[in-house]
Amino acid sequence: MKITYYGHACFLLETKDNKVLFDPFISPNELAKHIDISSIEADYILLSHGHEDHVADAEAIAKRTGATIVAAFEITSWYAQKGIEKLWPMNIGGQKHFPFGLVKFVTAVHSSVLPDGSYGGNPGGFVIENEEGCLYFAGDTALTRDMELIKDQFNLNWAILPIGDNFTMGVDDAIRACDFIGCDQVLGMHFDTFPYIQIDQEAAKMAFKKAKKELVLLEIGASSELG
Ligand code: NI
Ligand code: MN
Repeated sequence: MKITYYGHACFLLETKDNKVLFDPFISPNELAKHIDISSIEADYILLSHGHEDHVADAEAIAKRTGATIVAAFEITSWYAQKGIEKLWPMNIGGQKHFPFGLVKFVTAVHSSVLPDGSYGGNPGGFVIENEEGCLYFAGDTALTRDMELIKDQFNLNWAILPIGDNFTMGVDDAIRACDFIGCDQVLGMHFDTFPYIQIDQEAAKMAFKKAKKELVLLEIGASSELG
């Protein structure tokens, strides 16, 4: 599976047949000015929760590409009111087979409200499993023992974890999360976008290395093959 980073918590996962976009917040992101959202193709858009910094460009990209939005029931209902028809509601603990693999919507300890104040249901994360590998996109979350349930069910190859602290886990808790989920290869997200979540990238990578884990911080716009 190939992954491209579009800044903050936005990644594009390319499987054999599908393009899966997570949490698009690109056009308002000062660090992602060089990314043109009209160039992004997607078959599915997975939204972890309703906060603006995760959904800002979802409506525009869904309407242009015809991608299906997969999210908590309350969030897909909100998009239905905006005229989007291709929607797949889920809720915590549920899993479903999609053409790109099995998706399980897992616990995140956070909050969720949509940009206009509408209730967003519970926030979550996604585990994606297919014949190419297994990936955990944590969304915005605190460290939680519920992550051990992921290790019980899945053999993760990669995890996308927030590391910016303040609103989510920081580096030290993300390192502890690796043991809960049974995965030592991490792509970092949710850092540096705003002053509240600025980190020392080199120190973060060193902390992971010291714990015998790997932290990859992709440049915005860069891609990587998830081996
Ligand atoms: Ni959030
Ligand atoms: Mn966020």
